[in-house]
Amino acid sequence: MNIMKVRKDSKDFYKDVQNDPSQNETQLLKNSLNYMKAELNKFKELPLLVSEVKKVVGSKVIIKVPNGSNFLVNVSGDIKVVVGDSVLVEQRSLTVVQKLEDSKSFDVESFVIVEKPKVLWEEIGGLEDQIRELREVIELPLLKPELFRNVGIDPPKGVLLHGPPGTGKTMVAKAVATSSNSTFIEFVGSELVQKFIGEGAKLVKDIFKLARERAPSIIFIDEVDAIASERVDVGTSGEREVQRTFMQLLTEIDGFNSLDNVKVIAATNRFDILDQAILRPGRFDRLIEVPMPENKSRLNIFKIHSKRMNLSDVEFENLLEKTEGFSGADIKAVCTEAGYFAIRENRNKVFHEDFVNAVEKVNGSNGEDQEYLGMFG
Ligand SMILES: Nc1ncnc2c1ncn2[C@@H]1O[C@H](COP(=O)(O)OP(=O)(O)O)[C@@H](O)[C@H]1O
Ligand SMILES: [Mg+2]
Repeated sequence: MNIMKVRKDSKDFYKDVQNDPSQNETQLLKNSLNYMKAELNKFKELPLLVSEVKKVVGSKVIIKVPNGSNFLVNVSGDIKVVVGDSVLVEQRSLTVVQKLEDSKSFDVESFVIVEKPKVLWEEIGGLEDQIRELREVIELPLLKPELFRNVGIDPPKGVLLHGPPGTGKTMVAKAVATSSNSTFIEFVGSELVQKFIGEGAKLVKDIFKLARERAPSIIFIDEVDAIASERVDVGTSGEREVQRTFMQLLTEIDGFNSLDNVKVIAATNRFDILDQAILRPGRFDRLIEVPMPENKSRLNIFKIHSKRMNLSDVEFENLLEKTEGFSGADIKAVCTEAGYFAIRENRNKVFHEDFVNAVEKVNGSNGEDQEYLGMFG
């Protein structure tokens, strides 16, 4: 019972009896005595133990009390508990009397994106080697861990995807989650340290806990450089916070087994500034470069993103030269823009010329981006 509530209750009680002139003095004292007795009994009650459910055994459960001992105890009423729940246990009878709501996992789920993605391999243009490698190191151990047990090798726990923005890093990570039927838990490194000052390390811990609960799962850390960059000194408290978050990430990765059904995929477009500690064996020891698409890949990406478009005499081959240096995301933007040119002219067919104009438009906006960066860089 919370002390503020006790104070409030007793104040209300006195107010009630004082406001009622019909009560004689004896009655008032009797009430007062009863109230005090009840309060005294509350203080005589033993406190409840906060314990963790370790195992469910029929209608009983094995709990671990704070001093580390395990007990097989009863569960009162129709309280439903599962392994990992926090519960309150009455000390004398050792009975689970209440289940504590896990506020932690609520916090973490409001921060990360948890989904079962539906990105198919055939929606990705190019990146054949990268896809083959991801399937080998992520999909296969998740789907067939026994292969690795039988042969006696440990698959990597983590993979680091690096390459320019818009080249499909997020996409391939989602696709491997789809093909391995895993829960995809996504968060952005820079947000972790900017929005949740002081909470970063705890969130990392909770994210891995969530991943184990939802296994098989893939944790996707976008912009991992924000928490794992090589810093010369850790002078400010903000830098120390980032450092703590990073250490927690390493601890979590080191702490799970490579054949547990949790995998970590990180992505960065700043490979150059990464702290080498995350590349040590047993961590992100597979590096997969995701480059800008070559001609053949760009052709594929054009075909993928225009699949549902109503095209008339469009020759993507003739656009390849003009789209040198375009990322997959740029090509997708070209397809959308081309569609807009048709809509503006009230056509439902998209012509080759629309694509030519769209390439120019996207090229122009990319150029502006660069100028913009140049102003500050
Ligand atoms: N190789 C690709 N094939 C098809 N679409 C792509 C490809 N690369 C990028 N895209 C398109 O660009 C969008 C953004 O790509 P994304 O995976 O987020 O890039 P990154 O994570 O590398 O920045 C994707 O949702 C997709 O529509
Ligand atoms: Mg991305």
